[in-house]
Amino acid sequence: MNCDRIARAYRWIEYLFYGHELERRRFCYLPDVAAAKRALILGDGDGRFLARFCAASQASVDCIDSSARMLDLARGRAGNGQIRYIHADALALPLAPTSYDLIVTHFFLDCFDAAGLESLIGRVAAAAQPGALWLISEFREPRWARPLLTVMYLFFRMTADLANNHLVDHRPLLAARGFRLLREEASRGGLIASELWRLSK
Ligand SMILES: C[S@@+](CC[C@H](N)C(=O)[O-])C[C@H]1O[C@@H](n2cnc3c(N)ncnc32)[C@H](O)[C@@H]1O
Repeated sequence: MNCDRIARAYRWIEYLFYGHELERRRFCYLPDVAAAKRALILGDGDGRFLARFCAASQASVDCIDSSARMLDLARGRAGNGQIRYIHADALALPLAPTSYDLIVTHFFLDCFDAAGLESLIGRVAAAAQPGALWLISEFREPRWARPLLTVMYLFFRMTADLANNHLVDHRPLLAARGFRLLREEASRGGLIASELWRLSK
């Protein structure tokens, strides 16, 4: 996926389709994760969550994104203080084992097909400390929303070279890696959800 071309417009496209609902989802469990010490934030895009998180937390953050333009926007919003910006593919970058007590992925897991998602979740699980939290916002696929998701995937395939074309349910994959769901909240008829998971082993 290459989000460089749509980086600047991304926020406005989101507001056009979802209003502020995706932002509500991202920030839903922010108070639950603010005590983190070492956070891995994957595919945060233009840095709106990153900036809000860093205003609430002392954590040192590794922020990984494959789009240089998204990282520039994130740096403009969140600054450099506690954050290391890493321009890389999350499927390829080596992650130090058991280093993070917080993982964050907002509307990022939907970029991957089943094999990619399994690989990503395995890599992230190995980089998480025992007891680590994983904060997720993600789409779900109630039957009524299938056409909507088809159009959304088509849009990102055309504008950002997204290779994946369908949503894969990440929840069984997280559970298989020892994460347990602590809290969840869904909105818009079950289309969008916030989740908070903990690594229990
Ligand atoms: C759909 S956007 C989500 C942005 C933001 N997290 C949000 O809540 O809207 C996906 C983000 O992940 C990044 N991305 C996609 N695939 C990636 C990969 N393999 N490695 C790192 N970043 C990736 C994109 O550049 C983009 O910033």
